[in-house]
Amino acid sequence: MPQAQSTAFYVTTPIYYVNDAPHIGHAYTTVVTDFIARWHRQRQEDVWFLTGTDEHGEKVLRSAEANGVDARTWADRLVETAWKPVLETIDASNDDFIRTTEQRHVERVKDFIQGLHDNGEIFEGTYEGAYCVACEEYKQPGDLIDGTGEYEGQQVCSIHGRPVEMLAEKNYFFRMSAYTDRLLAFYEENPDFIQPESARNEVVSFVKQGLQDLSISRSTFDWGVEVPWDSSHVIYVWIDALLNYVTAVGYGVDDDMFERIWPADIHFVGKDILRFHAVIWPAMLMAAGLPLPKKVFAHGWLLVGGEKMSKSKLTGIAPSDIIDTFGSDAFRYYFLRAIAFGHDGSFSWEDIAARYQAELANGLGNLASRVAAMVGKYFDGTLPAPGSPTDAENALAATAAKAAADADAAIDRVAPHEALAAVWTLVDAVNGYITEQQPWAVAKDESQRERLGTILYSSAEALRVLAVLLNAAMPKASARIWESLGAQEHLGPLAAQPVADAGIWGRLAPGARVTKGESLFPRLAE
Ligand code: ME8
Ligand code: MG
Repeated sequence: MPQAQSTAFYVTTPIYYVNDAPHIGHAYTTVVTDFIARWHRQRQEDVWFLTGTDEHGEKVLRSAEANGVDARTWADRLVETAWKPVLETIDASNDDFIRTTEQRHVERVKDFIQGLHDNGEIFEGTYEGAYCVACEEYKQPGDLIDGTGEYEGQQVCSIHGRPVEMLAEKNYFFRMSAYTDRLLAFYEENPDFIQPESARNEVVSFVKQGLQDLSISRSTFDWGVEVPWDSSHVIYVWIDALLNYVTAVGYGVDDDMFERIWPADIHFVGKDILRFHAVIWPAMLMAAGLPLPKKVFAHGWLLVGGEKMSKSKLTGIAPSDIIDTFGSDAFRYYFLRAIAFGHDGSFSWEDIAARYQAELANGLGNLASRVAAMVGKYFDGTLPAPGSPTDAENALAATAAKAAADADAAIDRVAPHEALAAVWTLVDAVNGYITEQQPWAVAKDESQRERLGTILYSSAEALRVLAVLLNAAMPKASARIWESLGAQEHLGPLAAQPVADAGIWGRLAPGARVTKGESLFPRLAE
């Protein structure tokens, strides 16, 4: 089946449950998605980046009840005081924020489900099984493990470690079993649809066992989207939630927008919710005759003290706990660089502090301030013109071009850690170049003015390349480097610098005003 072509590059995060406030696990997914969105914008592509909140269902309803308010009040409160503010805290550049309680979503969910009903994709039946409210999912016996501690002797969910509940309900079902072979054929024809490879293998072997029909409604509570033909049922929260990816981009109301943006290029998710995105979601889209997303990327867990970080286990860390100390750029950099994307990764305060000091303060920050200080001191803050390059400058220019090309290629592999490692080859190369060229010694010899100008111009030029290549990961620091280089006047805004031109050497204009601002990554208080 040929894939539909939209013009925009569309990336999404999961829409997060408003049962509680965000922790760094949620921020992690959002930062990676934001980084990829920003990089594609830096390529000057048309980009759409969506995030939002998942507000219906039993999990959210129970947390509202536990807090003594109705679900709507609870959801509003958490969205306004916690979920939207965290996007500012982490510097997310999302184009939209969807809430599943919004009318624009609710109405289209009803249309979608009515469409499936009209096409004979939905039937009535009964279901009895073990339900995990934390996952909002019926569990198969193979998904359960023996409980420990207070749950000793019980079967618990393998993701949450908490007991499941036996439910028996009359429900509406989606004929998902009919899509087993079509899904397998789709995975076969689109080998990159599910990434990484381990996630793909897991899904393929799961689907090969044959899919069951899916219960898509609940009748024991009413916090959800009403089933259009039966007001005693609400639509299963996952069906409701997955549809956000289309309802937010004009599905059923704005055909131009929908065609421009859908299908998604990458759905970023944690591996806990891989099957929903790689099995149920494409089956729903097939049933509705809509194009399928191009990629579902399932990343690993953020571990704290060796365990999956979670609020329920009291290991949750709020993004601001880290950002108050290190700043949003360092937070973003750390999670993008330190974790091999797709794998589990451990967070530790020692690790982030060490990287902050070595890579950001001593590596990049010190470089930017040294170069600006020397242009100030030796050339009164006016960027000198370079003389003829020597092997050292040619090597630096080659490193810059390679760093830009390698980082760009890493983005296409969805490997942020590799992209930043590629950029850091240039940080290290300029630092080495300055150490070797010793501009402070060259400055003592008046006959070597031109050589001094070449060294400082080349160092500044490398910083220009770094500002462009780091803008997606560290927008605040990059903006300050751009400003410090006085680059705007001749080259225009940083956002308008195409990645493809980043590695082309010699773009800074001699004569630019170079200024030394405050340190990019100040020393940490003890
Ligand atoms: O699942 N490590 O929402 P949710 C890494 N509403 N990522 C983590 C993490 C950790 N320790 N903890 C959470 C839902 N995440 C549904 C999604 S989408 C149509 C509906 C991230 O609030 C990761 O992206 O439980 C994970 O998949 C997501 O938060 C789960 O968020
Ligand atoms: Mg979850």
